[in-house]
Amino acid sequence: MNINGKVALVTGASQGIGRAIALRLARDGADIAIVDVKEEKMQAVAAEIREIGRKATTFKADVTKRDEVYAAVEHAEKELGGFDIIVNNAGIAQVEAILDVTPEEVEKIFQVNVQGVLWGIQAAAKKFKARGQKGKIINAASIAGHDGFPLLGIYSATKFAVRALTQASARELASSGITVNAYSPGVVGTDMWVEIDRRMAEITGAKIGENYEKFVGGIALGRAQTPEDVASFVSYLAGPDSDYMTGQAPLIDGGLVYR
Ligand SMILES: NC(=O)c1ccc[n+]([C@@H]2O[C@H](COP(=O)([O-])OP(=O)(O)OC[C@H]3O[C@@H](n4cnc5c(N)ncnc54)[C@H](O)[C@@H]3O)[C@@H](O)[C@H]2O)c1
Repeated sequence: MNINGKVALVTGASQGIGRAIALRLARDGADIAIVDVKEEKMQAVAAEIREIGRKATTFKADVTKRDEVYAAVEHAEKELGGFDIIVNNAGIAQVEAILDVTPEEVEKIFQVNVQGVLWGIQAAAKKFKARGQKGKIINAASIAGHDGFPLLGIYSATKFAVRALTQASARELASSGITVNAYSPGVVGTDMWVEIDRRMAEITGAKIGENYEKFVGGIALGRAQTPEDVASFVSYLAGPDSDYMTGQAPLIDGGLVYR
């Protein structure tokens, strides 16, 4: 996908899906601002991007803090000389039964997965408008944003909320030439799933790996998803071929949830 010379900011880009997105958009021709809370890992991803031949800059920010997200966008523009694409990818998982979840747990995951995305949409849209240009906003949803999964109820609620924000902001921002879409991955073998599986094992008494295998067993294409499978779809959302698409959160899950 040709996004030569564009500037893309990716949150949660230290590892997993965010890292793969950052590398893919760099291969597509963009310069990348890496935003995360994990300083050392951010530096490693920046080095990988420079090896590809694109510019990279890092900015440590907690996406739950609005000021920090705004500062990250300012940093990206200043260091890379533009601002065209934001990928609000940072997110956390939570495995808890609906009957046991606490107010603190609910607050924490909504702050990261919903407010984190909201501040990213806000900061990016204001920057695009201030620069008088078009822009692309891309958010991390999930299969859990289309189906409420047991023991992932609050996580699912946050991802449904991401779809709501994606739809509403797409409608609000279309007249400014800004598109807002999301990606809804399935079961991606990242640290997040290691933690989901560990907690599910704790709650259900299953063996480590059993719940993960069960989920993967339901995938029509017969294998777990890789971060690169997600990144190739985000590449489409970031590039000109998706210019006529807004407010959507397509499933990219190997055939697991059907809508
Ligand atoms: N792994 C999956 O199967 C899967 C499936 C569907 C959707 N997703 C979504 O994709 C996104 C990335 O998931 P992943 O599997 O790569 O997870 P991951 O845990 O491997 O990586 C998440 C990254 O986000 C960062 N992060 C977390 N909280 C943050 C905060 N407050 N501020 C800044 N950075 C923060 C972490 O440091 C980490 O680098 C998440 O939004 C997740 O919900 C993942």
